[in-house]
Amino acid sequence: MWEEGGTLDYDEPEKLEKRKDSNKTERTENTIKELEKEFNFFEQEVGLLDTVGPKAREIIGQDCNMVSACVARPYPLVVDRAKGSVVKDIDGKEYIDFVAGIAVMNAGYSNPEVKAAISAQLDKMVHCGYGDFFAEPPLKLAKKLRQLSGYSRVFYCNSGAESVEAAMKLALWKTKRQNFIAFYNAFHGRTLGALSLTGSKVRQKEHFPTIRTVHTHYAYCYRCPMKLDYPSCGIECAKQIENLIFRRELSPEDTAAVFIEPVQGEGGYIVPPLEFHKEVRKICTDNDVLLVADEVQTGCFRTGPFLAMENFDVRADITCLAKALGAGLPIGAMLADSHLMDWPPGVHSNTFGGNLLSSASALASLEFLEKEDTENHVREMGVHIRHRLRELQENFPCVGDVRGLGLMIGAEIVKPDESIDPILRDRIIREAFKDGILLLPCGDSVIRFSPPLVMTDEEADLGLDKFEKALRRAVR
Ligand SMILES: Cc1ncc(COP(=O)(O)O)c(C=O)c1O
Repeated sequence: MWEEGGTLDYDEPEKLEKRKDSNKTERTENTIKELEKEFNFFEQEVGLLDTVGPKAREIIGQDCNMVSACVARPYPLVVDRAKGSVVKDIDGKEYIDFVAGIAVMNAGYSNPEVKAAISAQLDKMVHCGYGDFFAEPPLKLAKKLRQLSGYSRVFYCNSGAESVEAAMKLALWKTKRQNFIAFYNAFHGRTLGALSLTGSKVRQKEHFPTIRTVHTHYAYCYRCPMKLDYPSCGIECAKQIENLIFRRELSPEDTAAVFIEPVQGEGGYIVPPLEFHKEVRKICTDNDVLLVADEVQTGCFRTGPFLAMENFDVRADITCLAKALGAGLPIGAMLADSHLMDWPPGVHSNTFGGNLLSSASALASLEFLEKEDTENHVREMGVHIRHRLRELQENFPCVGDVRGLGLMIGAEIVKPDESIDPILRDRIIREAFKDGILLLPCGDSVIRFSPPLVMTDEEADLGLDKFEKALRRAVR
């Protein structure tokens, strides 16, 4: 139970409820064995809980009896505090963080400038209901977003899925059309609208109704879905929109927008060739269909420039941001130009969009990242990490592909016949966790590296040294 000082009362025995699948009988004791059965990350390997301290085990025991079981955790990390690129758990163990709170903490944990901006705003006012009133912090942020992105208008919301929902609604409202095109492996969020666009894992979609969306192939060159080779393929995957979908499935006149991630995130950190986005942009322009870039994960300097689409020299009609925007506080933004975002008052709104604290945090974070010449640091650090991972490939054939853009880097783990190996992938991540490295999976068989953008060379090298050791143990 949380006490006033924010610490757990470890001595008081908790009455534990069984979770969803076993809620008929009450569980009264919290043994490690029971916990290991609770989590899917223990299905393949027991003993991981032994590697964390007693406070962590206690918290996990209580958490898994009170919080919805639908959230999947890959290992038993219980965080306490963090600075820069290092996270400390509740028992005091330090971890080098290649996760950044799922690509959120771009400006680093406990960034002094962000903290100062948050506490200055905290002293004034936290929330005003920006949907009804006006305030300076969201306006200052709008000016910064206009300067960085070139879009003249912003709509504020609270998350990535909400910014995607807002973009869907704007596209539907503007075009008066009913359908969307999106890509296999795409992840756009889990609310019902955004989920319709998501084409990542069936588990995320089964039993839920969707808005009509036709999915097509993304340029996943390592495992080309069309069994072609780049560049002789002529980016046939992109051309399918025109050659197949618009002819057989859905006319452009019925298509409100094409939604695309500049680099696919949850789907496996898949970086398409340069021409891919140019081709999709051209098809959208030629057929008078809106192009929406979901930059929820790729945005805010994650790949170098402010928007990842800048790498491809492509400008979408609408761009969605969230994750790193608020530097850890929830905020989403949907960006477009005035001629497009000309919907009248009342069509769309929310309670927390433009929250004062989140806006102040976002502005301070963007100013910090701009001032620190993040773009170059991200490019250089990205090249360095990819280079080191490619060196590992020589000794570890299970590292099938190393790819990335800026600090969005994926290592695809494969079997000797190059088929996917999610079991080994998960084992590597768990071994790395034991050694004090935080990593996350994505796609079918990929380990993602998305550290805070402020990670130093020393931290990256130390982390990669430890990763190599973990890899060695995992393949043994
Ligand atoms: C590209 C992309 N879009 C949308 C989302 C959904 O964001 P949120 O979890 O904030 O709703 C995510 C989350 O991972 C994402 O990666």
